[in-house]
This record gives sequence, structure tokens and C-alpha cells, in this order.
Amino acid sequence: MENFDFYAPTYFAFGKGKEKEVGALVKKFGGSKVLLHYGGGSIKKNGVYDAVVKSLNEANIPFVELGGVKPNPRSSLVYEGIELCRKEKVDFILAVGGGSAIDSAKAISIGVPYDGDFWDFYGTGKEIVKTLPVGTVLTIAAAGSEGSVGSVITNEEKGLKWSARGDAIRPKFSILNPEFTCTLPAYQTACGITDMMVHIFERYFTNTTEVEVTDRLCEGLLKAIINQAPVLMNNLTDYQARANIMWASTMAHNNILGIGRDQDWASHDIEHELSSLYDVAHGAGLAVIAPAWMKYVYKHDIKRFVNFAVNVWGVEENKENPELTALEGIAKLQEFLKSIGMPSTFAQIGAKEEDIDYMAKNLCRRSRVGYFVEIKEEDAKAIYRLAL
Ligand code: NZQ
Ligand code: ZN
Repeated sequence: MENFDFYAPTYFAFGKGKEKEVGALVKKFGGSKVLLHYGGGSIKKNGVYDAVVKSLNEANIPFVELGGVKPNPRSSLVYEGIELCRKEKVDFILAVGGGSAIDSAKAISIGVPYDGDFWDFYGTGKEIVKTLPVGTVLTIAAAGSEGSVGSVITNEEKGLKWSARGDAIRPKFSILNPEFTCTLPAYQTACGITDMMVHIFERYFTNTTEVEVTDRLCEGLLKAIINQAPVLMNNLTDYQARANIMWASTMAHNNILGIGRDQDWASHDIEHELSSLYDVAHGAGLAVIAPAWMKYVYKHDIKRFVNFAVNVWGVEENKENPELTALEGIAKLQEFLKSIGMPSTFAQIGAKEEDIDYMAKNLCRRSRVGYFVEIKEEDAKAIYRLAL
């Protein structure tokens, strides 16, 4: 195990009715004027917007609004949000929605106090020092941004979907009412399940040895998701399944599973090229890419892929031919993703073979892709081809 510092101070308020605490929590974390930031309107249809506004009003907290965050959030709205916050002297940003609204809020929070372009922090590793505080009311269990140090933004002008990372953008609080996720359609629910699983894979596939505690946490959380997912897909309003899946998404990505070990993140970078170019849901892109990545890299550490097959998917170990066990684990993952309605090929998400060279090149503009196995341009092309 490697040395680590782990500081994850997000305050979580979880369960039915917890949105009533939003006003009090904004005050607790120093907010006196709020930017209410949200997406394309789902929160207005399902009553979440009204509940949040009621709580802010009851706490006498003034707010201004900026809706319209698109899935795969864009830099243009971030610039607009930064201007609005400066003009209105906002000191707290409240994101109501999913990873896209939260990531956009985090980007605005970086940009407001920064004397330069917020994009300087994306894809560069530049340290984020000063931000406005961000709180969240989560409406989709998926990206884990409610407890994470990341923000992923698509810069439309540059054609890049890159991330910024840092403790400074971890939300101060996140309100998780599983009932709010009950209006999610099946496809979006399955995209979220896929995303949280891949967040665990990115940490599980490591070159760091002697990390049994985090290995077992990863395997255990994956098993819980694999058990809960079919229950939820059979009944999209099952509160207990929604609750388990919601907490799983946070646990999968607040880094409790990743400390003390090297992490990979190639599948995410490879996928971000897809969602940037074709505007597909991130989870759907991952369903196509993660198994392809596994097929490409499993020989790097067959033992780890055997553990994955046996401990997560219940595959019986073939001691004479471990490679077969490893491959069976990957096949089980593909079966599972199919069973929840996820795509598995380029064609199913509208991606095109002729764009592979462009995506592989664009991908490798990052300083490094993949830490379990480093992925260069030719490797990326091969992985995309395995997903055709
Ligand atoms: O925009 P609205 O109308 O709200 O609709 C959204 C959107 O269309 C809808 N939705 C959300 N909650 C709903 C609902 N519809 C009905 N009922 C509800 N309760 O769902 C759609 C997707 O929303 P979005 O926020 O885009 O989903 P998600 O949470 O999957 O976020 C995806 C973004 O997060 C990034 C992804 O790359 C992608 O851009 N990620 C962020 C990470 C982070 N910050 O740590 C890590 C992840 O790996 C990921 O890369
Ligand atoms: Zn993800």
C-alpha cells in the first residue's frame, strides 16, 4: 500500500425529506446569496425545484438562477455563470441535478474568484486554490460528483472534454433523497449504474500490491450494485433499491476505494472522446468502452482479472487455464450490461469507425492515459476497434 492523505469533508444528508434542510445547510456553510444551477427542466417537472426553492425561501436566502446545463456540460454556460455570480455578488453555488449540473457548478466556482480563464485548470493538473463553496441536491445516481474532487467540462470551441481535480471543489454538502431519482427513465438509470461500476474498475485495476482492504471494498460494492441493479430495473420506483444504488454511486467515487493505490482511468479518458464527439450519455459510452479496454489489457495481470471474475462475478476458477477464467469474468460483465439495457457497440451509440483515428489522436493530447497499462495512440485505436 502507498502513503496517502484522505480528506473527504462533504456533509451528506441522506433520505426522504432531506431537501428541507437545504436552506439551513447553505447557511451552515457560509452562503448568503446563492446561484441555483440546474439542467434542462427535469427538476421543474418532478417537484424538486419547488422543494428546494421553498427551503431557501424559508431560510430567507436570496438566490439567482441559471438553468440549461446540458448533459456533457459546456464551457459556454460556465462563462455565463461566472459573469452572473460576479454581477450578483453570489457567494454560494447550489447545483440541483446530476453530474452535469454539479460539474458545471464546480467550474463556475473555480472561475469566479480566478483572475483568468477557468479552463486553465482543465486537463492541466493546475492546482485549484480558491473557489466559491458548492452544495448539491442530487437527482441521479451516476457520476459521483456529489462527493468527488472532479469536474468534467466540454469545451465546445476546442473540441475537448477534460477534467479539473482538487479538494477545493469537493462539495461542502450533498443532499441525497433517493425518491428524487424515481423519475429517472430506465436508460438513464442503467447509464448511472454503469458509470458507478466503472468508477470502481478504474480503482480496482491497479499495479499497487498488498491493498486487500480496498480490493475487498471494491469487490463488495460491485457485488451490491450487481444485486441491486436488477431489482431496480424491474421496478424503477423501488425506494430501497434506489437508496442502495444512490449511496453506491457516492461510495464508488468519493475515493474511499482508491486510496493507497495507483488508479487507471483509461476507460474514462477513452470514453470522454466519445461523449464529447457524439454527445452520448457518459455511462452508455463506458458500457461500450470498459469491456473493450479489459479485453485489450487483461494479459497485463491475469491474476487480478481472475480475482475480478471469481470474487465479483462468481466464476469458478479454472486453475489449469486462468486466462479462460479472466475472459469469463469480462463476458459476465458484458452480459450484465446487456441485461440492464446498455449498448455494447459503436453502432448502438451512433459512433463511427472513421472517427477512430481522430479520437485516438485527441485522446493522447492528455499528458498520460492509463496507469494500470499506459495507453498510447495505437493502443487507443485498437481498443476503439474492439468496441466496433
Ligand atoms: O437536464 P435535466 O432535465 O435535469 O435531465 C437530466 C439529463 O438529461 C436527466 N435527469 C437527471 N435527474 C433526473 C433526470 N431525469 C428525470 N428525473 C431525474 N430525477 O438525466 C440526464 C443526465 O443528467 P446528467 O447530469 O448529465 O447525468 P450524470 O450524473 O450521469 O452526469 C454525467 C456527466 O458527469 C461527468 C460525465 O462525463 C458527464 O459529463 N462525470 C463527472 C464526474 C465527476 N465530476 O467526478 C465523474 C464521472 O466519471 C463523469 O465523467
Ligand atoms: Zn464516470
